[in-house]
Amino acid sequence: MSESPQVPAETIGPPAARAAEILKLRDITVERGGRAVVRDVTIDILAGQVTALLGPNGAGKSSLVLAVGGVLGLKTGSIQVDGRKITGRPERIRRAGIAIVPEGRRLLPELTVEDNLRVATYALTREQARAGRSLALEMFPELTRRLAAVARTLSGGEQQMLVLAQALVSRPRYLLIDELSLGLAPVVVNRLIPTIRSVAGSGIGVLLIEQFAAVALGLAGRAYIMESGRLRFSGLASELRDNPELLRSAYLLRGSDSAEQAGPG
Ligand SMILES: Nc1ncnc2c1ncn2[C@@H]1O[C@H](COP(=O)(O)OP(=O)(O)OP(=O)(O)O)[C@@H](O)[C@H]1O
Ligand SMILES: [Mg+2]
Repeated sequence: MSESPQVPAETIGPPAARAAEILKLRDITVERGGRAVVRDVTIDILAGQVTALLGPNGAGKSSLVLAVGGVLGLKTGSIQVDGRKITGRPERIRRAGIAIVPEGRRLLPELTVEDNLRVATYALTREQARAGRSLALEMFPELTRRLAAVARTLSGGEQQMLVLAQALVSRPRYLLIDELSLGLAPVVVNRLIPTIRSVAGSGIGVLLIEQFAAVALGLAGRAYIMESGRLRFSGLASELRDNPELLRSAYLLRGSDSAEQAGPG
């Protein structure tokens, strides 16, 4: 393939006026199968920035995302969008400005790119749908050329772009992405990196869960590490970049070898 995405690499960081915009997850506990798989987790997701959420398998990252998206109930804790507490079913959460890309999200493989985007607008008014579609295509210009293509014929990277584009059609203020690079070749992941930067650069607060710690930490301002349902680290991504031992020890708490992944790029 000869296409080059030509996505501008904006600097990450909210304009001053947006500094107060924040998605606050406070003391969140989530139970699954009668067991607390997320315990007292507190995370801030700032508008206009990428926040990384790392941690070994089974740490509770996906459970947290599903709880924020309203798919799983909260046992305790609260979710606040720009100072307003929100609760409820997935539709309500989405209307409050939060979109989630769950782990392993699938497209409708026999539908075109255009129709996959249309499906994602089902709950929107016609006007909202039009604006959402424009935003999604602005963020993923490569998809514009592929609108008539059947989804299963897209490359892995294009499919992931379409998954992200579907989440963007609701024009969320916060986007939670569970496993950006799952199943993708490093070269493809490298093409997705500038698009995530653009999404954050547009003012959206992104929570990025990513198996390649180096990718997530390269994009993120703040970073969190979960292990066995609890937060083990919260601070600046640069602290973890500068101190690989810190990162390694968090992963090794569970004997996982995930910290060995060098990550693409
Ligand atoms: N449907 C379920 N019912 C009961 N327990 C579950 C269910 N799904 C996951 N769990 C458990 O919840 C805990 C947290 O899992 P979760 O998938 O949230 O972790 P994760 O950090 O996303 O892991 P990974 O990096 O492998 O995606 C694990 O102990 C897991 O076994
Ligand atoms: Mg997971």
